[in-house]
Formats: sequence, C-alpha cells, structure tokens
Amino acid sequence: MRPILLNPGPVSLSEGVRGAVASLDLCHREPEYFDLQDAVIQGLLNVYGCDLKTWAAVLLGGSGTAAIEAMLASLLPADAHALVLENGVYGERLSRIARIHGIRSQALKAGWGESHDLQALSELLATGDFSHVLAVHHETTTGRLNPVEAIAVLCTKFNVRLLLDAVSSFGAEDLPFNQESLQAIAATANKCLHGIPGLAMVVCRQTALQQPIEPRTLSLHLPAWAEQQAKRSTPFTPPVNALLGLAQALKELEKHGGWQARRLRYLELAARVAGVCRQLGVAEWLPAGESSCVLRSYHLPAGMTYNQLHDGLKQQGFVIYAGQGRLAAQLFRISTMGEISDYDMARLEQALRRVIAGAEN
Ligand SMILES: Cc1ncc(COP(=O)(O)O)c(C=O)c1O
Repeated sequence: MRPILLNPGPVSLSEGVRGAVASLDLCHREPEYFDLQDAVIQGLLNVYGCDLKTWAAVLLGGSGTAAIEAMLASLLPADAHALVLENGVYGERLSRIARIHGIRSQALKAGWGESHDLQALSELLATGDFSHVLAVHHETTTGRLNPVEAIAVLCTKFNVRLLLDAVSSFGAEDLPFNQESLQAIAATANKCLHGIPGLAMVVCRQTALQQPIEPRTLSLHLPAWAEQQAKRSTPFTPPVNALLGLAQALKELEKHGGWQARRLRYLELAARVAGVCRQLGVAEWLPAGESSCVLRSYHLPAGMTYNQLHDGLKQQGFVIYAGQGRLAAQLFRISTMGEISDYDMARLEQALRRVIAGAEN
C-alpha cells in the first residue's frame, strides 16, 4: 500500500492526477502544450475568481522558493524599502532573499509561532518609510495562519504594496485579492492544489509586471516568463508533466467545490487528528483557531522522541513531519492536505492510538 503523506507537501495524489502526469509525451514547442499552458493559467486565476485583465498567473519551473525569489527579484524596484513580517522559517527566508538580491529591507520580528503585532505594523507603515510589505500567509513552521486580510487593509490604508508567500495556503485559505495593496502571491503546485512538485507560480497584478525593473536574474525574471506565456510561448523548458498533473488537479478542485470546500475538508480532517491526539494526552502547540486548515503542530508525546513517533507511524503507512530548527525537539507536525480518504483517516486514528498509547504501556 502507498504511504499517506501527512507532511506539508508534496502530497498524496488522486488517481486522476497520478494518471494525468504520465498520460502524454509532450513537446513544449507544440500547440498542444500551449493549450495546456493556457488552461493551467486560466485554471489558477479561476481558483480565486481573478480577472485576466487585472491579474496574471505566471508559471515557472522550480519549487515554492523559486516562485518567492522570482516574485521579490522581479517586482521590487531598485529603490524599494521592504518591511518583512517574520514569525517563522519562511518569514526569515523572505528577508534572506531580499538581502541576496540587494533589496533594502527591515524585519518586524515575532517569535516563531507568535502572532504579528498589527499595532507595531501600523505605526511603522505610518512613518512612510516603506514601499512594500513582505509576509507569509500560512507560516508552515508552526501552522500559524497570519492575518493577511488585516495586513492588506493596513497596506491599502498607507498606500504600501503587499507581496505574499502563499506557498502553503493557495487553494485552501482565503486570500485578499480584493485589496488594492495586494500585488502578488507566490504558490506551488504540490501543496493545497494537489499537483506534483516542480511547478511554481506567481499570481500578480498585470501592472506589477509592467514596472521598469532591471532583471536581477535571468531564469526567474517574471516579466520574461509572462510575456512569452501571453504569446503562447515559453522562455525555457517548463515542467511539462507537472502542468499535466496540475491541469487535472485544478479540474478536481473545481469539481469538489473550490478552495472553500477544500478548506472545510482540511478542517474536518485536522479536527479528527487533534481529537485523537487530545484523547492520547498530546496537546496542540497552537490554539486550533490560530492554526491554518492545512497543518497543525503538536507537542511530542511524553517520553517519546520524534524519531520513535515518526518511525512507528511510518511502519503503519503514514509519513509525518518534524519541527524545524530549534522546534525539532519540541513538536511534530501533521498536515491534512492531499488525497486523504475517510478510510485513510480511520487507519490513521488507529495508528496514532497504537503508536502513542502503545508506547506508554
Ligand atoms: C510557507 C512556505 N513558503 C515557502 C516554502 C518553500 O517551498 P519549497 O520547499 O517548495 O521551495 C514552503 C515549504 O514548505 C512553505 O511552507
């Protein structure tokens, strides 16, 4: 039996997506490929009802980090001053990418897992010193869902542009596309969209692509990808099979009720995991209401190392995820993204009881 992936991406695939990935040998310079590319672009815009006149979905080969790096390197002008909201690994990575590309930035830091200080954000934006805010929507380090709607409202108020890392939330959590301040979000195929790794995307305002910005990189320069894609072309070899998978995954997302229905399904599964953990004396690391629907963090069971828990569950067919960095010794993470059936869920509940309660006896 295939293992069920409970790590935060890549995810367990549906049979439809698995079949689509290997369904065709396709040259990326043929019209059939451009039909596929157009369908994926339109499908991505449809997820949040984004209009093609205002928004572009730019596809590129690479992981989520490539999409984020492309977004920052391509859409921040030379004189930008960015305020970066950090409360985990991925917020810190935004600052790191800004530094690498010579983008002037300052961090507003909160501890890993803590909430952002919106009052401090408002005061900093009121100084008029910042042109952009960079933030992570779902900070996968801990599962915290950051309040991007409130952040976007503040950015709109102070006429500051907002760029979001939505790598682990696009397709399952709400995004403030209706806020003028929102310029772009970075995402990937292999998380809430249920595609395979290798394909990343930036959904951004068409106007953001038209800024006169000198390329900081060759292969991650979004305007070049966007210009070619609008002309039914591509600057470089795209991850063709990942597009085949994503086209099918987007159809399945739409058929099953879109991001809102996916969010409810993830929440239901997360609540079931949390319920069993609670019965076993394993506490959630963050209050449920502050976690995303995608992933929750838990304290390690008393007297158990992460490796014991991981290996025990893996033997039962489930792959969980460790805490990152300094949280590795404290917590474990379970994501309920991907194709997880009610039967898989019942088996997981049983496996958790067996591995955690069994270890205590
Ligand atoms: C919020 C967030 N940003 C960025 C990344 C980096 O994505 P990748 O590992 O695909 O480069 C991840 C990966 O889990 C993530 O969760």
